[in-house]
Amino acid sequence: MRNLISTLPILSLLLIAISSSLTFAQPFRCTSTATTCDALVDYVSPNDTTLSAIKTLFNVKNLRSILGANNLSLSTPPNAKVTAKQTIKIPFPCICKNLTGISNKMPNYTVVSGDILYHIAAEVFSGLVTFQKIQEVNNIANASLIVVGQTLWIPLPCSCDDVDGQKVVHYGHVVPAGSSVDGIAKQYNTSQDTLLRLNNLTSPKDLLAGAILDVPLRACSSMVSNSSLDYPLLVPNGTYVFTANNCVRCNCDAANNWMLQCESSLINSSCPAIRCQGAENFYLGNTLSLGCNRTTCAYAGYDRQNTNTTVDLQSTCPASDNKSSAIGLQGSRWNFLLLSIHIMLICLPFLK
Ligand SMILES: *[C@@H]1O[C@H](CO)[C@@H](O)[C@H](O)[C@H]1NC(C)=O
Ligand SMILES: *[C@@H]1O[C@H](CO)[C@@H](O)[C@H](O)[C@H]1NC(C)=O
Ligand SMILES: *[C@@H]1O[C@H](CO)[C@@H](O)[C@H](O)[C@H]1NC(C)=O
Ligand SMILES: *[C@@H]1O[C@H](CO)[C@@H](O)[C@H](O)[C@H]1NC(C)=O
Ligand SMILES: *[C@@H]1O[C@H](CO)[C@@H](O)[C@H](O)[C@H]1NC(C)=O
Ligand SMILES: *[C@@H]1O[C@H](CO)[C@@H](O)[C@H](O)[C@H]1NC(C)=O
Ligand SMILES: *[C@@H]1O[C@H](CO)[C@@H](O)[C@H](O)[C@H]1NC(C)=O
Ligand SMILES: *[C@@H]1O[C@H](CO)[C@@H](O)[C@H](O)[C@H]1NC(C)=O
Ligand SMILES: *[C@@H]1O[C@H](CO)[C@@H](O)[C@H](O)[C@H]1NC(C)=O
Ligand SMILES: *[C@@H]1O[C@H](CO)[C@@H](O)[C@H](O)[C@H]1NC(C)=O
Ligand SMILES: *[C@@H]1O[C@H](CO)[C@@H](O)[C@H](O)[C@H]1NC(C)=O
Ligand SMILES: *[C@@H]1O[C@H](CO)[C@@H](O)[C@H](O)[C@H]1NC(C)=O
Repeated sequence: MRNLISTLPILSLLLIAISSSLTFAQPFRCTSTATTCDALVDYVSPNDTTLSAIKTLFNVKNLRSILGANNLSLSTPPNAKVTAKQTIKIPFPCICKNLTGISNKMPNYTVVSGDILYHIAAEVFSGLVTFQKIQEVNNIANASLIVVGQTLWIPLPCSCDDVDGQKVVHYGHVVPAGSSVDGIAKQYNTSQDTLLRLNNLTSPKDLLAGAILDVPLRACSSMVSNSSLDYPLLVPNGTYVFTANNCVRCNCDAANNWMLQCESSLINSSCPAIRCQGAENFYLGNTLSLGCNRTTCAYAGYDRQNTNTTVDLQSTCPASDNKSSAIGLQGSRWNFLLLSIHIMLICLPFLK
Protein backbone atom coordinates (compact mmCIF):
# COMPACT_ATOMS: atom_id res chain seq x y z
CA MET A 1 0.00 0.00 0.00
CA ARG A 2 2.74 2.39 0.96
CA ASN A 3 4.48 1.55 -2.27
CA LEU A 4 1.40 2.30 -4.30
CA ILE A 5 0.92 5.66 -2.65
CA SER A 6 4.53 6.67 -3.16
CA THR A 7 4.43 5.81 -6.88
CA LEU A 8 1.18 7.71 -7.47
CA PRO A 9 2.77 11.15 -7.84
CA ILE A 10 5.30 9.70 -10.26
CA LEU A 11 2.53 8.04 -12.27
CA SER A 12 0.53 11.21 -12.46
CA LEU A 13 3.63 13.12 -13.55
CA LEU A 14 4.12 10.59 -16.34
CA LEU A 15 0.48 10.92 -17.37
CA ILE A 16 0.86 14.67 -17.54
CA ALA A 17 3.91 14.30 -19.77
CA ILE A 18 2.08 11.88 -22.05
CA SER A 19 -1.27 13.61 -22.29
CA SER A 20 0.05 17.16 -22.45
CA SER A 21 -0.40 18.89 -25.78
CA LEU A 22 2.57 21.11 -25.01
CA THR A 23 5.48 20.73 -27.40
CA PHE A 24 9.12 20.81 -26.34
CA ALA A 25 11.11 22.95 -28.72
CA GLN A 26 14.80 22.19 -29.01
CA PRO A 27 17.02 23.38 -31.83
CA PHE A 28 17.98 20.92 -34.58
CA ARG A 29 21.66 20.53 -35.37
CA CYS A 30 22.62 22.05 -38.73
CA THR A 31 26.33 22.08 -39.35
CA SER A 32 26.59 23.44 -42.88
CA THR A 33 26.97 27.23 -42.58
CA ALA A 34 24.62 29.57 -44.49
CA THR A 35 23.05 26.64 -46.34
CA THR A 36 19.37 26.93 -47.22
CA CYS A 37 16.91 24.17 -48.04
CA ASP A 38 13.24 23.22 -47.77
CA ALA A 39 11.91 21.71 -44.54
CA LEU A 40 8.65 20.60 -42.91
CA VAL A 41 7.22 20.97 -39.44
CA ASP A 42 4.01 19.73 -37.80
CA TYR A 43 1.55 22.34 -36.60
CA VAL A 44 -0.92 20.94 -34.08
CA SER A 45 -3.68 23.51 -34.17
CA PRO A 46 -4.78 24.54 -30.65
CA ASN A 47 -8.23 25.64 -31.90
CA ASP A 48 -10.65 24.92 -34.71
CA THR A 49 -9.31 26.87 -37.66
CA THR A 50 -9.03 26.80 -41.48
CA LEU A 51 -6.25 25.98 -43.93
CA SER A 52 -6.30 29.58 -45.07
CA ALA A 53 -5.71 30.89 -41.52
CA ILE A 54 -2.77 28.47 -41.14
CA LYS A 55 -1.39 29.60 -44.51
CA THR A 56 -1.53 33.21 -43.28
CA LEU A 57 -0.05 32.43 -39.85
CA PHE A 58 2.98 30.69 -41.40
CA ASN A 59 3.32 33.13 -44.36
CA VAL A 60 3.04 30.28 -46.89
CA LYS A 61 2.71 31.90 -50.32
CA ASN A 62 0.49 29.37 -52.09
CA LEU A 63 -2.15 27.17 -50.49
CA ARG A 64 -1.10 24.41 -52.91
CA SER A 65 2.25 24.12 -51.06
CA ILE A 66 0.34 23.15 -47.89
CA LEU A 67 -1.97 20.83 -49.86
CA GLY A 68 1.09 19.16 -51.45
CA ALA A 69 2.96 18.71 -48.16
CA ASN A 70 -0.10 16.94 -46.73
CA ASN A 71 -1.08 15.02 -49.90
CA LEU A 72 -4.48 16.76 -49.82
CA SER A 73 -6.49 17.10 -53.01
CA LEU A 74 -5.74 20.23 -55.06
CA SER A 75 -9.46 21.00 -55.07
CA THR A 76 -9.49 21.45 -51.26
CA PRO A 77 -10.99 24.93 -50.64
CA PRO A 78 -9.02 27.54 -48.61
CA ASN A 79 -11.76 27.66 -45.98
CA ALA A 80 -11.52 23.90 -45.34
CA LYS A 81 -11.88 23.25 -41.61
CA VAL A 82 -8.95 22.12 -39.49
CA THR A 83 -10.17 20.89 -36.14
CA ALA A 84 -8.42 21.48 -32.81
CA LYS A 85 -5.51 19.03 -32.26
CA GLN A 86 -5.38 18.13 -35.96
CA THR A 87 -1.84 18.07 -37.36
CA ILE A 88 -0.94 19.90 -40.58
CA LYS A 89 2.55 19.76 -42.13
CA ILE A 90 3.94 23.22 -42.90
CA PRO A 91 6.51 23.61 -45.71
CA PHE A 92 9.06 26.40 -45.16
CA PRO A 93 12.57 27.51 -46.13
CA CYS A 94 15.35 26.67 -43.66
CA ILE A 95 18.76 28.30 -43.06
CA CYS A 96 21.69 26.99 -41.01
CA LYS A 97 23.21 29.47 -38.58
CA ASN A 98 25.52 28.98 -35.65
CA LEU A 99 25.18 25.16 -35.82
CA THR A 100 21.38 25.16 -35.67
CA GLY A 101 18.72 25.42 -38.37
CA ILE A 102 15.88 27.96 -38.25
CA SER A 103 13.16 29.08 -40.68
CA ASN A 104 14.71 31.64 -43.01
CA LYS A 105 13.37 35.15 -42.13
CA MET A 106 9.83 33.82 -41.73
CA PRO A 107 7.12 33.43 -40.59
CA ASN A 108 6.67 37.02 -39.43
CA TYR A 109 4.12 37.56 -36.70
CA THR A 110 2.59 40.95 -35.94
CA VAL A 111 2.08 41.61 -32.24
CA VAL A 112 -1.55 42.29 -31.25
CA SER A 113 -2.94 43.88 -28.11
CA GLY A 114 -2.48 41.68 -25.01
CA ASP A 115 0.29 39.51 -26.50
CA ILE A 116 3.23 38.39 -24.44
CA LEU A 117 6.14 36.45 -25.96
CA TYR A 118 5.27 33.31 -24.03
CA HIS A 119 1.72 33.28 -25.44
CA ILE A 120 3.01 33.78 -28.99
CA ALA A 121 5.52 30.93 -28.66
CA ALA A 122 3.55 28.43 -26.60
CA GLU A 123 0.00 29.04 -27.81
CA VAL A 124 -0.14 30.84 -31.16
CA PHE A 125 2.71 28.71 -32.57
CA SER A 126 1.78 25.76 -30.30
CA GLY A 127 5.25 25.44 -28.77
CA LEU A 128 7.19 25.02 -32.04
CA VAL A 129 9.56 27.67 -30.66
CA THR A 130 10.49 28.89 -27.20
CA PHE A 131 9.92 32.52 -26.31
CA GLN A 132 13.65 32.77 -25.52
CA LYS A 133 14.50 31.83 -29.10
CA ILE A 134 12.07 34.45 -30.49
CA GLN A 135 13.66 36.98 -28.16
CA GLU A 136 17.17 36.02 -29.31
CA VAL A 137 16.66 36.19 -33.09
CA ASN A 138 14.73 39.45 -32.84
CA ASN A 139 17.32 41.06 -30.52
CA ILE A 140 14.77 41.85 -27.83
CA ALA A 141 16.64 42.83 -24.66
CA ASN A 142 13.62 42.64 -22.33
CA ALA A 143 10.94 40.04 -23.12
CA SER A 144 8.27 42.21 -21.46
CA LEU A 145 8.92 45.03 -23.87
CA ILE A 146 7.12 44.19 -27.12
CA VAL A 147 4.71 46.63 -28.72
CA VAL A 148 1.46 46.22 -30.67
CA GLY A 149 2.22 46.22 -34.41
CA GLN A 150 5.80 45.04 -33.93
CA THR A 151 6.89 42.33 -36.39
CA LEU A 152 8.55 39.25 -34.91
CA TRP A 153 10.48 36.61 -36.80
CA ILE A 154 9.39 33.18 -35.53
CA PRO A 155 12.39 30.79 -35.85
CA LEU A 156 10.96 27.30 -36.53
CA PRO A 157 13.35 24.37 -35.97
CA CYS A 158 14.84 22.66 -39.05
CA SER A 159 18.04 21.36 -40.61
CA CYS A 160 19.72 21.09 -44.01
CA ASP A 161 22.28 18.41 -43.08
CA ASP A 162 22.72 15.27 -45.14
CA VAL A 163 21.96 12.11 -43.14
CA ASP A 164 24.07 8.99 -43.67
CA GLY A 165 25.42 10.57 -46.85
CA GLN A 166 21.92 11.10 -48.31
CA LYS A 167 20.10 14.32 -49.09
CA VAL A 168 16.89 14.29 -47.04
CA VAL A 169 14.06 16.60 -46.03
CA HIS A 170 14.16 17.31 -42.30
CA TYR A 171 10.70 17.05 -40.77
CA GLY A 172 9.94 18.42 -37.31
CA HIS A 173 7.50 15.76 -36.16
CA VAL A 174 5.43 16.51 -33.07
CA VAL A 175 5.49 13.19 -31.24
CA PRO A 176 1.94 11.86 -30.68
CA ALA A 177 1.18 10.28 -27.29
CA GLY A 178 1.82 6.57 -27.25
CA SER A 179 4.45 6.47 -29.99
CA SER A 180 7.92 4.95 -29.83
CA VAL A 181 11.19 5.86 -31.51
CA ASP A 182 11.16 2.52 -33.33
CA GLY A 183 7.57 3.00 -34.49
CA ILE A 184 8.30 6.49 -35.82
CA ALA A 185 11.45 5.19 -37.53
CA LYS A 186 9.44 2.47 -39.28
CA GLN A 187 6.66 4.88 -40.26
CA TYR A 188 9.13 7.24 -41.95
CA ASN A 189 11.54 4.67 -43.40
CA THR A 190 14.49 5.55 -41.20
CA SER A 191 16.20 3.72 -38.33
CA GLN A 192 15.90 4.06 -34.57
CA ASP A 193 19.66 4.69 -34.31
CA THR A 194 19.48 7.55 -36.80
CA LEU A 195 16.62 9.19 -34.88
CA LEU A 196 18.41 8.81 -31.53
CA ARG A 197 21.63 10.27 -32.95
CA LEU A 198 20.00 13.22 -34.76
CA ASN A 199 17.94 14.13 -31.70
CA ASN A 200 20.67 13.67 -29.12
CA LEU A 201 18.66 11.02 -27.27
CA THR A 202 20.63 8.46 -25.28
CA SER A 203 17.80 5.93 -25.04
CA PRO A 204 14.45 5.30 -26.78
CA LYS A 205 12.91 5.81 -23.33
CA ASP A 206 13.88 9.49 -23.47
CA LEU A 207 11.19 10.16 -26.09
CA LEU A 208 8.46 12.44 -24.77
CA ALA A 209 5.00 12.99 -26.22
CA GLY A 210 4.87 16.51 -27.60
CA ALA A 211 8.60 16.67 -28.35
CA ILE A 212 9.57 17.91 -31.79
CA LEU A 213 11.58 15.10 -33.30
CA ASP A 214 13.98 15.73 -36.21
CA VAL A 215 12.90 13.02 -38.68
CA PRO A 216 14.93 12.75 -41.90
CA LEU A 217 12.58 11.95 -44.78
CA ARG A 218 13.93 10.07 -47.74
CA ALA A 219 13.03 11.81 -51.01
CA CYS A 220 12.23 10.23 -54.36
CA SER A 221 15.12 10.10 -56.82
CA SER A 222 14.76 12.35 -59.81
CA MET A 223 16.43 13.30 -63.10
CA VAL A 224 16.77 16.98 -62.14
CA SER A 225 20.15 18.31 -63.28
CA ASN A 226 22.45 20.13 -60.89
CA SER A 227 22.20 23.30 -63.02
CA SER A 228 18.44 23.47 -62.46
CA LEU A 229 17.07 26.31 -60.33
CA ASP A 230 15.19 23.79 -58.15
CA TYR A 231 18.14 21.39 -57.69
CA PRO A 232 18.10 19.22 -55.60
CA LEU A 233 14.35 18.80 -55.90
CA LEU A 234 13.62 16.78 -52.74
CA VAL A 235 10.07 15.45 -52.55
CA PRO A 236 9.38 13.04 -49.66
CA ASN A 237 7.04 10.04 -49.82
CA GLY A 238 3.38 10.98 -49.69
CA THR A 239 3.82 14.60 -50.82
CA TYR A 240 3.71 16.62 -54.04
CA VAL A 241 5.22 19.96 -55.06
CA PHE A 242 4.88 22.51 -57.85
CA THR A 243 8.03 23.68 -59.59
CA ALA A 244 9.29 25.29 -62.83
CA ASN A 245 7.24 28.46 -62.17
CA ASN A 246 4.37 26.27 -60.95
CA CYS A 247 4.01 24.69 -64.41
CA VAL A 248 5.24 21.23 -63.31
CA ARG A 249 3.71 19.11 -60.57
CA CYS A 250 5.82 16.29 -59.07
CA ASN A 251 4.57 13.51 -56.76
CA CYS A 252 6.58 11.09 -54.67
CA ASP A 253 5.11 7.75 -53.75
CA ALA A 254 7.44 5.12 -52.28
CA ALA A 255 5.19 2.51 -53.91
CA ASN A 256 6.42 3.76 -57.31
CA ASN A 257 9.95 2.51 -56.65
CA TRP A 258 10.91 5.87 -55.04
CA MET A 259 10.95 7.49 -58.51
CA LEU A 260 9.68 11.08 -58.74
CA GLN A 261 6.66 11.37 -61.06
CA CYS A 262 6.17 14.74 -62.74
CA GLU A 263 3.55 16.07 -65.12
CA SER A 264 2.50 19.39 -66.64
CA SER A 265 0.40 21.18 -64.01
CA LEU A 266 -1.68 23.08 -66.63
CA ILE A 267 -2.45 25.43 -63.76
CA ASN A 268 -3.36 28.25 -66.15
CA SER A 269 -3.02 29.23 -69.79
CA SER A 270 0.61 30.32 -69.35
CA CYS A 271 1.57 26.74 -68.41
CA PRO A 272 1.87 24.58 -71.56
CA ALA A 273 1.61 20.82 -71.89
CA ILE A 274 5.34 20.04 -71.80
CA ARG A 275 6.63 17.64 -74.45
CA CYS A 276 9.59 15.33 -74.14
CA GLN A 277 12.61 16.69 -75.94
CA GLY A 278 12.94 15.15 -79.37
CA ALA A 279 9.80 13.01 -79.10
CA GLU A 280 6.52 14.16 -80.59
CA ASN A 281 3.28 13.21 -78.82
CA PHE A 282 5.24 12.08 -75.76
CA TYR A 283 4.44 14.45 -72.92
CA LEU A 284 5.87 15.02 -69.44
CA GLY A 285 4.59 12.17 -67.26
CA ASN A 286 3.65 9.89 -70.16
CA THR A 287 4.92 6.32 -69.90
CA LEU A 288 5.27 3.48 -72.36
CA SER A 289 5.67 -0.11 -71.18
CA LEU A 290 7.60 -2.66 -73.17
CA GLY A 291 7.50 -5.91 -71.24
CA CYS A 292 9.38 -5.25 -68.03
CA ASN A 293 10.84 -1.99 -69.33
CA ARG A 294 9.04 1.27 -68.76
CA THR A 295 9.96 4.44 -70.62
CA THR A 296 8.91 7.73 -69.02
CA CYS A 297 9.09 11.34 -70.12
CA ALA A 298 10.75 12.67 -66.95
CA TYR A 299 11.29 16.18 -65.60
CA ALA A 300 14.97 17.20 -65.81
CA GLY A 301 14.95 20.75 -64.39
CA TYR A 302 14.39 24.35 -65.43
CA ASP A 303 16.28 27.60 -65.85
CA ARG A 304 15.29 31.05 -67.08
CA GLN A 305 14.86 29.81 -70.67
CA ASN A 306 13.73 26.18 -70.57
CA THR A 307 11.80 23.50 -68.76
CA ASN A 308 13.86 20.42 -69.55
CA THR A 309 12.68 16.85 -69.92
CA THR A 310 14.41 13.58 -70.60
CA VAL A 311 13.37 10.12 -71.71
CA ASP A 312 13.99 7.79 -68.79
CA LEU A 313 14.03 4.01 -68.64
CA GLN A 314 12.91 2.13 -65.56
CA SER A 315 13.28 -1.60 -65.62
CA THR A 316 11.75 -4.26 -63.40
CA CYS A 317 13.23 -7.04 -65.53
CA PRO A 318 14.60 -9.93 -63.42
CA ALA A 319 18.24 -9.18 -62.59
CA SER A 320 19.46 -12.42 -64.17
CA ASP A 321 17.87 -11.55 -67.54
CA ASN A 322 19.04 -8.02 -67.72
CA LYS A 323 21.96 -6.31 -66.05
CA SER A 324 20.42 -2.87 -66.36
CA SER A 325 17.51 -3.72 -64.04
CA ALA A 326 19.71 -3.65 -60.97
CA ILE A 327 20.99 -0.23 -61.96
CA GLY A 328 17.45 0.98 -62.63
CA LEU A 329 16.14 -0.08 -59.26
CA GLN A 330 18.95 1.57 -57.36
CA GLY A 331 18.11 4.83 -59.03
CA SER A 332 21.67 5.93 -59.65
CA ARG A 333 21.42 9.24 -61.40
CA TRP A 334 24.48 8.86 -63.64
CA ASN A 335 23.57 5.40 -64.86
CA PHE A 336 20.05 6.59 -65.54
CA LEU A 337 21.42 9.33 -67.70
CA LEU A 338 23.46 6.89 -69.76
CA LEU A 339 20.44 4.62 -70.06
CA SER A 340 18.22 7.54 -71.04
CA ILE A 341 20.45 8.50 -73.90
CA HIS A 342 20.63 4.88 -74.94
CA ILE A 343 16.88 4.29 -74.84
CA MET A 344 16.22 7.58 -76.56
CA LEU A 345 18.19 6.37 -79.59
CA ILE A 346 16.31 3.06 -79.59
CA CYS A 347 12.87 4.55 -79.07
CA LEU A 348 12.95 7.69 -81.17
CA PRO A 349 11.81 6.16 -84.47
CA PHE A 350 8.73 4.54 -82.98
CA LEU A 351 7.83 7.43 -80.69
CA LYS A 352 7.41 9.57 -83.81
C1 LIG B 1 -7.44 29.44 -29.14
O1 LIG B 1 -7.62 28.94 -27.83
C2 LIG B 1 -6.93 29.63 -26.82
C3 LIG B 1 -7.14 28.91 -25.52
O2 LIG B 1 -6.78 27.58 -25.66
C4 LIG B 1 -7.43 31.07 -26.76
O3 LIG B 1 -6.69 31.77 -25.79
C5 LIG B 1 -7.24 31.71 -28.11
O4 LIG B 1 -7.78 33.01 -28.11
C6 LIG B 1 -7.90 30.90 -29.21
N1 LIG B 1 -7.55 31.47 -30.49
C7 LIG B 1 -8.45 31.68 -31.44
C8 LIG B 1 -7.95 32.26 -32.69
O5 LIG B 1 -9.62 31.40 -31.29
C1 LIG C 1 25.96 30.99 -31.24
O1 LIG C 1 25.36 30.23 -30.19
C2 LIG C 1 26.01 30.43 -28.92
C3 LIG C 1 25.39 29.46 -27.91
O2 LIG C 1 24.05 29.24 -28.14
C4 LIG C 1 25.82 31.89 -28.51
O3 LIG C 1 26.46 32.11 -27.28
C5 LIG C 1 26.44 32.79 -29.59
O4 LIG C 1 26.19 34.13 -29.28
C6 LIG C 1 25.82 32.48 -30.94
N1 LIG C 1 26.53 33.25 -31.97
C7 LIG C 1 25.88 33.93 -32.90
C8 LIG C 1 26.72 34.64 -33.89
O5 LIG C 1 24.66 33.99 -32.94
C1 LIG D 1 9.81 39.04 -42.55
O1 LIG D 1 10.48 40.20 -42.11
C2 LIG D 1 11.82 40.30 -42.54
C3 LIG D 1 12.46 41.50 -41.88
O2 LIG D 1 11.59 42.58 -41.86
C4 LIG D 1 11.84 40.39 -44.06
O3 LIG D 1 13.18 40.44 -44.52
C5 LIG D 1 11.16 39.14 -44.63
O4 LIG D 1 11.08 39.23 -46.04
C6 LIG D 1 9.77 38.99 -44.06
N1 LIG D 1 9.24 37.71 -44.50
C7 LIG D 1 8.07 37.56 -45.08
C8 LIG D 1 7.68 36.19 -45.47
O5 LIG D 1 7.32 38.50 -45.30
C1 LIG E 1 11.68 44.61 -18.32
O1 LIG E 1 10.66 45.58 -18.48
C2 LIG E 1 9.71 45.61 -17.39
C3 LIG E 1 8.60 46.54 -17.79
O2 LIG E 1 9.11 47.78 -18.21
C4 LIG E 1 10.43 45.99 -16.11
O3 LIG E 1 9.51 45.98 -15.03
C5 LIG E 1 11.54 45.00 -15.86
O4 LIG E 1 12.30 45.40 -14.74
C6 LIG E 1 12.46 44.89 -17.08
N1 LIG E 1 13.40 43.81 -16.84
C7 LIG E 1 14.70 43.94 -17.04
C8 LIG E 1 15.56 42.73 -16.76
O5 LIG E 1 15.20 44.98 -17.42
C1 LIG F 1 13.01 1.79 -46.34
O1 LIG F 1 12.00 1.22 -47.19
C2 LIG F 1 12.49 0.24 -48.05
C3 LIG F 1 11.34 -0.21 -48.91
O2 LIG F 1 10.86 0.86 -49.64
C4 LIG F 1 13.10 -0.91 -47.25
O3 LIG F 1 13.65 -1.87 -48.12
C5 LIG F 1 14.19 -0.37 -46.34
O4 LIG F 1 14.68 -1.41 -45.53
C6 LIG F 1 13.66 0.73 -45.47
N1 LIG F 1 14.76 1.31 -44.71
C7 LIG F 1 14.71 1.46 -43.40
C8 LIG F 1 15.90 2.07 -42.77
O5 LIG F 1 13.73 1.16 -42.77
C1 LIG G 1 23.09 16.36 -25.85
O1 LIG G 1 22.58 16.03 -24.58
C2 LIG G 1 23.53 16.20 -23.53
C3 LIG G 1 22.92 15.73 -22.23
O2 LIG G 1 21.68 15.14 -22.40
C4 LIG G 1 23.92 17.67 -23.44
O3 LIG G 1 24.89 17.85 -22.45
C5 LIG G 1 24.47 18.12 -24.78
O4 LIG G 1 24.74 19.51 -24.75
C6 LIG G 1 23.50 17.83 -25.91
N1 LIG G 1 24.13 18.14 -27.18
C7 LIG G 1 23.51 18.83 -28.13
C8 LIG G 1 24.28 19.05 -29.38
O5 LIG G 1 22.39 19.26 -27.99
C1 LIG H 1 26.94 18.63 -62.06
O1 LIG H 1 26.79 17.36 -62.69
C2 LIG H 1 27.82 17.06 -63.61
C3 LIG H 1 27.52 15.71 -64.23
O2 LIG H 1 26.19 15.62 -64.58
C4 LIG H 1 29.17 17.03 -62.91
O3 LIG H 1 30.20 16.80 -63.85
C5 LIG H 1 29.40 18.35 -62.20
O4 LIG H 1 30.58 18.31 -61.45
C6 LIG H 1 28.24 18.69 -61.29
N1 LIG H 1 28.44 20.01 -60.73
C7 LIG H 1 28.27 20.28 -59.45
C8 LIG H 1 28.45 21.69 -59.03
O5 LIG H 1 27.96 19.40 -58.66
C1 LIG I 1 18.22 22.60 -70.34
O1 LIG I 1 18.65 22.15 -71.62
C2 LIG I 1 19.45 23.10 -72.33
C3 LIG I 1 19.70 22.54 -73.73
O2 LIG I 1 20.06 21.20 -73.64
C4 LIG I 1 20.74 23.31 -71.54
O3 LIG I 1 21.55 24.26 -72.20
C5 LIG I 1 20.39 23.83 -70.16
O4 LIG I 1 21.56 23.95 -69.36
C6 LIG I 1 19.43 22.86 -69.46
N1 LIG I 1 19.00 23.47 -68.22
C7 LIG I 1 18.84 22.75 -67.10
C8 LIG I 1 18.40 23.50 -65.90
O5 LIG I 1 19.04 21.55 -67.04
C1 LIG J 1 4.79 6.17 -47.88
O1 LIG J 1 3.63 6.90 -47.47
C2 LIG J 1 2.48 6.10 -47.32
C3 LIG J 1 1.32 7.00 -47.02
O2 LIG J 1 1.66 8.07 -46.21
C4 LIG J 1 2.73 5.08 -46.20
O3 LIG J 1 1.60 4.27 -46.08
C5 LIG J 1 3.93 4.24 -46.56
O4 LIG J 1 4.23 3.37 -45.50
C6 LIG J 1 5.13 5.11 -46.83
N1 LIG J 1 6.21 4.28 -47.30
C7 LIG J 1 7.48 4.42 -46.88
C8 LIG J 1 8.45 3.41 -47.39
O5 LIG J 1 7.81 5.31 -46.14
C1 LIG K 1 -1.70 10.68 -52.04
O1 LIG K 1 -3.05 10.92 -52.39
C2 LIG K 1 -3.44 10.26 -53.57
C3 LIG K 1 -4.83 10.74 -53.96
O2 LIG K 1 -5.63 10.92 -52.85
C4 LIG K 1 -3.39 8.74 -53.33
O3 LIG K 1 -3.80 8.06 -54.49
C5 LIG K 1 -1.95 8.38 -53.00
O4 LIG K 1 -1.87 7.02 -52.68
C6 LIG K 1 -1.45 9.19 -51.83
N1 LIG K 1 -0.02 8.93 -51.72
C7 LIG K 1 0.54 8.51 -50.61
C8 LIG K 1 1.98 8.17 -50.65
O5 LIG K 1 -0.09 8.41 -49.58
C1 LIG L 1 -0.34 31.70 -64.31
O1 LIG L 1 0.53 31.08 -63.39
C2 LIG L 1 1.81 31.68 -63.30
C3 LIG L 1 2.63 30.80 -62.41
O2 LIG L 1 1.98 30.52 -61.22
C4 LIG L 1 1.65 33.07 -62.74
O3 LIG L 1 2.93 33.70 -62.67
C5 LIG L 1 0.75 33.87 -63.67
O4 LIG L 1 0.52 35.14 -63.10
C6 LIG L 1 -0.57 33.14 -63.88
N1 LIG L 1 -1.33 33.84 -64.91
C7 LIG L 1 -2.63 34.02 -64.83
C8 LIG L 1 -3.26 34.71 -65.97
O5 LIG L 1 -3.26 33.65 -63.85
C1 LIG M 1 14.77 -3.69 -71.53
O1 LIG M 1 15.81 -2.75 -71.75
C2 LIG M 1 17.11 -3.32 -71.82
C3 LIG M 1 18.12 -2.20 -71.89
O2 LIG M 1 17.81 -1.30 -72.91
C4 LIG M 1 17.16 -4.28 -73.01
O3 LIG M 1 18.45 -4.88 -73.04
C5 LIG M 1 16.10 -5.35 -72.86
O4 LIG M 1 16.06 -6.17 -73.99
C6 LIG M 1 14.74 -4.71 -72.66
N1 LIG M 1 13.76 -5.73 -72.35
C7 LIG M 1 12.56 -5.79 -72.94
C8 LIG M 1 11.66 -6.90 -72.51
O5 LIG M 1 12.23 -4.98 -73.79
